[in-house]
Amino acid sequence: MCGIVGYIGNKNAFDYLIKGLERLEYRGYDSAGVALLDEELKVYKTQGKVKDLVHVVQDQNIQGSLGIGHTRWATHGAPNYANAHPHISQSGSLAMIHNGIIENYATIKKALENRGRTFASDTDTEVLLQLIEEIQEKNGVELYEAVRLALNEVIGAYAIVLIDQKNPNILIGAKKGSPLVVGIGQNKGEYFIASDATPIIEYTRQVSYLEDEEIVIIEKGELSIKTLENVEKTPFIQELSISLEAIEKGGYEHFMLKEIFEQPTSISNSLRGRFSPTELRFAMSSLIEYEDKIKNLKRIIIVACGTSWHSGLIGEYLIEDFARLPVEVEYASEFRYRNPIITEDDLVIAISQSGETADTLAALELAKSKGATIYGICNVVGSSIARLTDAGAYTHAGPEIGVASTKAFTAQVSVLTLLSLGLAQIRGAIGTQKLREMLSGLEVIPKQVESLLKECDNLCREISEKYHEASNFLYLGRGYNFPIALEGALKLKEISYIHAEGYPAAEMKHGPIALIDENMPIIVIATKRGHYEKIVSNIQEIKARNGVVIAIVSKGDNEVKALADFAIEIPDVEDALVPLLSIIPLQLISYYIAVLRGCNVDQPRNLAKSVTVE
Ligand code: F6R
Repeated sequence: MCGIVGYIGNKNAFDYLIKGLERLEYRGYDSAGVALLDEELKVYKTQGKVKDLVHVVQDQNIQGSLGIGHTRWATHGAPNYANAHPHISQSGSLAMIHNGIIENYATIKKALENRGRTFASDTDTEVLLQLIEEIQEKNGVELYEAVRLALNEVIGAYAIVLIDQKNPNILIGAKKGSPLVVGIGQNKGEYFIASDATPIIEYTRQVSYLEDEEIVIIEKGELSIKTLENVEKTPFIQELSISLEAIEKGGYEHFMLKEIFEQPTSISNSLRGRFSPTELRFAMSSLIEYEDKIKNLKRIIIVACGTSWHSGLIGEYLIEDFARLPVEVEYASEFRYRNPIITEDDLVIAISQSGETADTLAALELAKSKGATIYGICNVVGSSIARLTDAGAYTHAGPEIGVASTKAFTAQVSVLTLLSLGLAQIRGAIGTQKLREMLSGLEVIPKQVESLLKECDNLCREISEKYHEASNFLYLGRGYNFPIALEGALKLKEISYIHAEGYPAAEMKHGPIALIDENMPIIVIATKRGHYEKIVSNIQEIKARNGVVIAIVSKGDNEVKALADFAIEIPDVEDALVPLLSIIPLQLISYYIAVLRGCNVDQPRNLAKSVTVE
């Protein structure tokens, strides 16, 4: 949550900060603000989005070659002006931005108040800032030392960046639990700092990702890194591989639509070079290196949140089907606080687009401490989860900017499909014929997704036109399509604010059937191969109660088509491959409905892309 950006160099920082904040806005958009140091320290901030900030400052001549900026997802304190970052210390000399949560802020605040400090906001950030200033003043130490001592007193997660009016040549950042990356500019003495590389990519490819409990000091054009224990570290500089086009809209009205239409490429990238359908071979280093471990595995536990949890459910079906290994799929937030039974024979798989989700990260740390082997399926390269794992496979979906996850989901499912088949082969649980069918089927999925997007787009718009004013939707599916029902419902509710529920179709008669009337559209995923007869009966039950049915059917189906109000055809593929196709029309319907309702599709209210708080 929250996006942070900083600049130090010899150009005006303002434009870099604003552009950077626009790129980071997916992380939160409750308020936006910048602080720049020219002759004096000036702060400009507002409740609302970056465009509101630009509007507020439009007539001002903002100058300063040192600056920091913040876009907020509120945790402590309402999303108002006072709580917007950057925060200013009591003396007015220090300005700081923060992403994360200081858990012991209340105790520290009380102690600071008792010693005479006053506060202008309700935030935990200001507490940390005032603590830094108090240490700086009382101990008469340099800013770096004050930051280090203060951070040794706090419990929680942070990525912070500070500037100091008294030290106009210094920019300090630190991180624990929340991400922070430093970009080394092409001009001498120019550096960027941000929550992720998107604000940096335009200016340099040379970056250094900070590790937890590291402090970066950029002073008089030189970069140095020290730990909270005051140990000097050599910065590890790496080359960025993402492109600028990948983080821009490329002619689409919204990132979400662009990302939906990118799926033929992103699925293809998630599979590329990882298997051979002719030789029936897998080229995934995690499978090769852990072959012995995989042979002796007793159980797999998948931990994730939200959409990634839904792909985990599909992973469960796939791994149980093919590798015949028991799988448990856990909400990371529940798992970590439940005293779960984890052994050294377990493989714990974390699935996360961002690789930064606090609950998933903590669940993984717990599993690691119990000796389990931990495996990551992440999209963001170099993210915290990816770095913590013993092994893993990146999804290679490319940057996902729209808050609602689309291409990351299908990339996760693609990787899980490969993983399940690879595990099955190593454990001797799958026959050659079946493996060949699956891999050949998987190979053509990107092409099928491409055609499906073209074929179903108009019908999805038509359906959305007709039902966008409904106040409730029900999504039903069985087997592999049950997690798709959950994911379809989540997509709709998060971006259109329509109440939507996903259910296993057979559960309908245990409660939700009472909701059915002619006003509630029911999306039923009724593809041919999985429990077809049973789901046809469920549709009959809905129609008998005058329900509206929008069905996702296999090409050539006539039975469901005759019953449904609308039917969207998808290619008739292996049951286990259906999720990669059946989700496509559901993503499009959510998108078009949200647009028709005038919702902010890429930045739905109250949400943020990267949930770095628990
Ligand atoms: C929904 C969505 C969220 C995320 C969840 C986990 O569209 O994007 O539900 O899936 O916050 O995020 P990651 O995958 O980054 O761990």
